[in-house]
Amino acid sequence: MNLQCFHLTVSGKWALLEMARPEKLNVIDEPALLELEEILQAIQEQGVKAVVLTGQGKAFAAGADVAAMAEMDSATAQLFSEMGNRIFQQIEDHPAVFIAAVNGYALGGGCELALACDLRYASTKASFAQPEVGLGIIPGFGGTQRLPRIVGPARAKEWVLTGQRFSAEEALTAGLVTRVLEPDKLLEEAVALAEELAKKSGPILALAKQAIAASGTGVDQSHTNKEAYLFGKCFATKDGPEGLRAFVEKRSPVFEDR
Ligand code: COA
Repeated sequence: MNLQCFHLTVSGKWALLEMARPEKLNVIDEPALLELEEILQAIQEQGVKAVVLTGQGKAFAAGADVAAMAEMDSATAQLFSEMGNRIFQQIEDHPAVFIAAVNGYALGGGCELALACDLRYASTKASFAQPEVGLGIIPGFGGTQRLPRIVGPARAKEWVLTGQRFSAEEALTAGLVTRVLEPDKLLEEAVALAEELAKKSGPILALAKQAIAASGTGVDQSHTNKEAYLFGKCFATKDGPEGLRAFVEKRSPVFEDR
């Protein structure tokens, strides 16, 4: 595999997967999504049982590429959301256990990527948000479906509707992460967990994931298709394109409620 957006290190039956474009704050664009899909398939074929997913630099991932979205029309935006949802769903449905080691900014699509993982550890430097509404859009990579399942609808609504940032400690209180660690301990602890999981039976881990998803926490395509449809609709308003353009032009958006 010729990887541009990720760096993959497979150690026996566990793997370290790093988002490797720190200069872009590990932004999640179409090339990154397609590369991720290829990696998911490859590690499944190699029988990897646990994956630590983290970001190089100061961000876990600063979200979907706003500059690219500013150029999209409604139909293209819906397709982009469907693509992100299809690939993030492959993480949820993957036989391996995914541990997000959230090292810094996990914003928008970055937060949604962490939500698609099975477990989340955060560094004290992590910072989370679903800021899309402030950009005139809504979360489009499963956030509207997974966040309420993980933290409950009340807190999910507060975070999605306000777009406010929340810290690792707040994420811990809400049950979004299970451990908060000093930055220099984050990977060490996430890797220790991956090594422990890799000693277990792969098929049994996969069956346990499936059974837990059946408890009502699992997301399927009918849920995310609705999100993608509504995501696309944002781009057919006046406020959606305005919010995205405003980010690119480094100014405050002027919303007209249209
Ligand atoms: N999409 C596209 N470009 C992004 C981006 C995103 N989601 N997040 C960051 N960038 C770009 C910035 O525009 C900047 O580009 P430039 O150097 O060409 O100006 C570069 O990455 C570095 O980011 P910068 O804002 O200069 O870093 P910072 O440390 O001052 O701020 C953030 C970091 C994460 C707070 C800030 O970049 C930010 O708010 N990003 C957008 C987050 C967001 O809304 N994500 C959800 C999208 S749906």
